[in-house]
Amino acid sequence: MVCWLSLILCIGGVGAQKHFQHDSNDYIQYRTLPNHLITKWSITYHDREAVAPGYWFTAPYWLHDGDRETNQWIPYQIGPHIFDQDGVLVWTGSTEFDNLNVYDFRRIDLPDATGQLQPHVSWMRWHKPYDMGSDGLTAVYDNHYQPKYVTPVPANEIDTHDFNVKYPPNVLQIQTRPEIVKLDDLGRPDAEQVITINGFTEKNILTGETVFEWRSNKKVKLNESYITRAEDAHPREDYMHANAIDKNDNGDYLLSARHTSTIYLISGQDGHIIWRLGGKENDFEKDFDFFGQHDSRFISVNATHMVISFFNNGAIDGDVREKTSSAMYVELDTINMRARVLTRYMRPDGGVTDRRGNMQTLDNGNVLMCWSWDGYMSEYSHDGRLLMEAKFASDRHDSYRAYKFPWIGRPSNPPTLLSETYGVNGSALSTVFHVSWNGATDVAFWRFYARNSSSAAKEEVGIVPKSGFETSFIAGGYMDWVSVEALDSNMETLGESPDIRTTPPEYWPPTAPLPRPDEPRLAAAKITSPIEHRHLSGFPFQFFTGFVICGILVALGTCMVGGD
Ligand SMILES: *[C@@H]1O[C@H](CO)[C@@H](O)[C@H](O)[C@H]1NC(C)=O
Ligand SMILES: *[C@@H]1O[C@H](CO)[C@@H](O)[C@H](O)[C@H]1NC(C)=O
Ligand SMILES: *[C@@H]1O[C@H](CO)[C@@H](O)[C@H](O)[C@H]1NC(C)=O
Ligand SMILES: *[C@@H]1O[C@H](CO)[C@@H](O)[C@H](O)[C@H]1NC(C)=O
Repeated sequence: MVCWLSLILCIGGVGAQKHFQHDSNDYIQYRTLPNHLITKWSITYHDREAVAPGYWFTAPYWLHDGDRETNQWIPYQIGPHIFDQDGVLVWTGSTEFDNLNVYDFRRIDLPDATGQLQPHVSWMRWHKPYDMGSDGLTAVYDNHYQPKYVTPVPANEIDTHDFNVKYPPNVLQIQTRPEIVKLDDLGRPDAEQVITINGFTEKNILTGETVFEWRSNKKVKLNESYITRAEDAHPREDYMHANAIDKNDNGDYLLSARHTSTIYLISGQDGHIIWRLGGKENDFEKDFDFFGQHDSRFISVNATHMVISFFNNGAIDGDVREKTSSAMYVELDTINMRARVLTRYMRPDGGVTDRRGNMQTLDNGNVLMCWSWDGYMSEYSHDGRLLMEAKFASDRHDSYRAYKFPWIGRPSNPPTLLSETYGVNGSALSTVFHVSWNGATDVAFWRFYARNSSSAAKEEVGIVPKSGFETSFIAGGYMDWVSVEALDSNMETLGESPDIRTTPPEYWPPTAPLPRPDEPRLAAAKITSPIEHRHLSGFPFQFFTGFVICGILVALGTCMVGGD
């Protein structure tokens, strides 16, 4: 007993100093996720009870084209991530696709063979770093985290803005295609140059068939742009910068374009522009302004009115026109062409998001916004009460968008287990376990097993509550041929790791014979009380170097003198 208490105190003390490894305390490294440094969160709840249930879906990213040539770059911090609402990692998909930036990571639902909708995740990947000619892709994985639909996107058509499955199995995506265009819209009929033509497609994910396609040339003029200007010798190519596409039950499309600062309603019948909200050619009498917006979505539509939501940046990069960015619901009277604000949710810290960002209406009516810089998110009640703010602990990463969804993750890979034995002689050994299960939800307990030989029956060593992404556990004795079982809150088995061999003691007299594994029931006898289980489980990784050193000191000192 004295021995275990000493260990706990020692672990705490050394742990505090080990915090700064990798010259940052903004990330967590887990033993069971080698090479990954998982971003930490800084979270403020203003009303925890009122937030919607679910998990955060976010994709930290660093420089658009990767960052291999600077000392800032650390592998496997970016890419698709699911976190719980305490900021604890649930799934990292950063090892998929070689640690590249991804965008618009979210849950989508797709029909299975019987037509039942099943949860999936989707994201889009930019081209390879420093290879602008390489293809991007769109990815759809199931909730076992296995690839289902992975589709390459040709290099000159890469657009990573939107992957919107509103009417499954169809997906709406923005299209980008450079073309040589005459500049007559800019009053320069003799000049021509490459212009980025935007558009969108509606495609069936299951068959790949294109259902609808629309392109901006001849429909959206170059002089609608705020950044492509006649007076520039070489007017900027990206005149429109479409960034969101949605569809309503009438079959019409809502297209947001940042560089024209306009939201377009486009006919699903013949592709003509029915109206424009905002921008230089605005068709509405309205009681609000917006600029450089993102993420426009249909909320409701009837014969006379439409309610839409969008993220109002109030800025296009350095061209800042509003003091604070906001997220908005507006009602459009489409008979009398009047538009009014229903609710405007200000960026809580008063800042400006001059690019990127999104706004998601949650199932209970709450609203989640991602203000992009530093992954900053907020949740508001529908009537405008601020409930939660969160951002990455580091300012190194941003997120293009963020979402919250209910999620059940059932990884097809088994839990990852590590076990190591520490001690200086055969009678004072202990075994340290680390376990995690990337992507699994609903794990409440871990049950550890060991055998005293490869052919013996497995015996329970202990059960500990899951604590964080990675749970750690110390058992008395040298436990070998170990495995672990994931249990839900009803003690039902969710999955089990394969048997692994425990790493033998590292600090062992070279002349002495290696110890023999103990019988599992020895460990079970040593750790019996649930209080001890709680104390002994869940030490984060950084404590364990301390543990080794302290363990040796304690084993040599306290325990030798005091005994158990
Ligand atoms: C853009 O140019 C067209 C002529 O091509 C003109 O009719 C229109 O008024 C111009 N729009 C703006 C916003 O200047
Ligand atoms: C149409 O929607 C508006 C609100 O967006 C509502 O005020 C109006 O009553 C609705 N009309 C019908 C016929 O349901
Ligand atoms: C191993 O454990 C089994 C019980 O599972 C026990 O019967 C046997 O005696 C043990 N063997 C050794 C060598 O400790
Ligand atoms: C092993 O360590 C324990 C406690 O640390 C001590 O009581 C015991 O005498 C040691 N045994 C040997 C063979 O050194």
